Amino acid sequence: MSQEPFSRGQWKSRVGFILAASGSAIGLGNIVFFAANAYKFGGGAFYLPYLFALFVFGIPVMILEFGLGNFTGRAFPESLHRIAGRKGEFVGWWANLNAGFITMYYITILSWVIGMLFGAFGALWKDSIPVPAFGIAEGDLANPYAYFFHMLSTWKPILYVALVWIFNIIIVRKGAETIESATKVFVPLMWIFMILLIIRGVTLENGMQGIYLLFTPNFEVMKDPSVWQGAFAQTFFSLSLGFGIMTAYASYLPRKSDLTTNSIITSLLDSGFAYIAGLAVFSILFAFAIVPQASTIGMMFFILPQGIGEMPDQSVTVFGVVFFALLLLAGLTSSVSLVEALVSSMRDKFGWSRKRTIAIAAVIGFCGSAIFALPQVVNPGLEDDGTLGLTLLDLFDHWAFSYGLLIIGFCECILVGWFLGADKVRLHLNENSSIKLGAWFDVLIKFVIPLALLVVLGYSVWGEIKDGLFGTSFAENFSEEYGFLRYAPRFALAYWLIICSIAAFLLARRGSFAKAE
Ligand code: PHE
Repeated sequence: MSQEPFSRGQWKSRVGFILAASGSAIGLGNIVFFAANAYKFGGGAFYLPYLFALFVFGIPVMILEFGLGNFTGRAFPESLHRIAGRKGEFVGWWANLNAGFITMYYITILSWVIGMLFGAFGALWKDSIPVPAFGIAEGDLANPYAYFFHMLSTWKPILYVALVWIFNIIIVRKGAETIESATKVFVPLMWIFMILLIIRGVTLENGMQGIYLLFTPNFEVMKDPSVWQGAFAQTFFSLSLGFGIMTAYASYLPRKSDLTTNSIITSLLDSGFAYIAGLAVFSILFAFAIVPQASTIGMMFFILPQGIGEMPDQSVTVFGVVFFALLLLAGLTSSVSLVEALVSSMRDKFGWSRKRTIAIAAVIGFCGSAIFALPQVVNPGLEDDGTLGLTLLDLFDHWAFSYGLLIIGFCECILVGWFLGADKVRLHLNENSSIKLGAWFDVLIKFVIPLALLVVLGYSVWGEIKDGLFGTSFAENFSEEYGFLRYAPRFALAYWLIICSIAAFLLARRGSFAKAE
């Protein structure tokens, strides 16, 4: 079938590209997850493993993903196909499908952010509201918990899911061009909102206490391997690596681009944002003696809103709205990068028009996000104290995030390092970059990073076996009373591993790609 070559589009400016890439990297993870991890892993001491993971492992993989996309001018599956044929392409599609799950539930989480944003204008700050679906009377469960669970037990999140998908469609509708226009406004706004929160946090009475804690190192914890594992996973997720996003974004850059410097700038913007977010989170929480939680959802929807709710009256609504608006902007600039990575992979393969590809992705994606948002699915294990029980979302997150990204990181290092030759990408990068990479880069990509990833993955699997396989220990919580949902843990694992693999295999079997300009 001969087709007209399709146009892939390009970024208009280097700044536009860096804003879009850093917009992808700076997301919900930077705002609360970094601080939560820093707290869990001993405050100041966490920075050392984190910085180590960032420089030895995060930045080089970011350079690799940028280099790969720019070297081939294609998104992940076709890039990897060019390197290693069908097995490469299989990895590319598998990464896309893994990212597809993450897109679905990431958008569900954003739909809850929208619900909370509406609440922040008033209802969220009342003492309590009843949650009829769970038989919880007014006064039994305090806000923000009650407000959140009330929202979850209605159909509203489905509406918000539709809204988030519509925002995504609008932003990716012309690819790089429209993403660039949106991120040029959103990303600077995110920095402004974050600075406002920091100023409010440190000017609270006792606000500085939290900051001291953040910078007081506790070196004891560094002997604990899970600190290192936490730092590695945090770096990968935070830099949006292992999704094929950075490859797709760099494929829209002219071939003569300074990719190494761009990678370093993007990574430093990302970690810089996480770092300053720590100042806001710690000052707000410690001013009111609220203990952080090592859960992104818990921190976003309960812990920080609780802190904001304790602020002096005139601050509550303003900073509540600023906080949730910040989450929404940061989340949108990340979710559009996920959607764009999928869309560009599909277009490379099938040569479909942008409209058609986006329509297919959005319909499937909306259905998936809506399933994660269904009141019945979201909350089978709501406990008496109002913590979010084990949900389908947690189950998928466990596999797609904790394992998926690292497995893909491992595969891409092997494919680029051993099949293509790390030196080929390095020479391409060095041609136009002001910072020249030495042979050490090849050593990192071929040996050090894959080995480190294997160790981290092995450690996780070992923990899984030791403490009872995640699926089975979860199954106890999903007891008879949840009906068919009791199969959810096994379903999540099987779906993620088997269906993803079969689909990736089928996509990679058809070897041809559409022609692009
Ligand atoms: N990097 C984003 C964050 O820190 C996460 C993310 C980006 C997740 C893109 C998925 C896709 O929150």
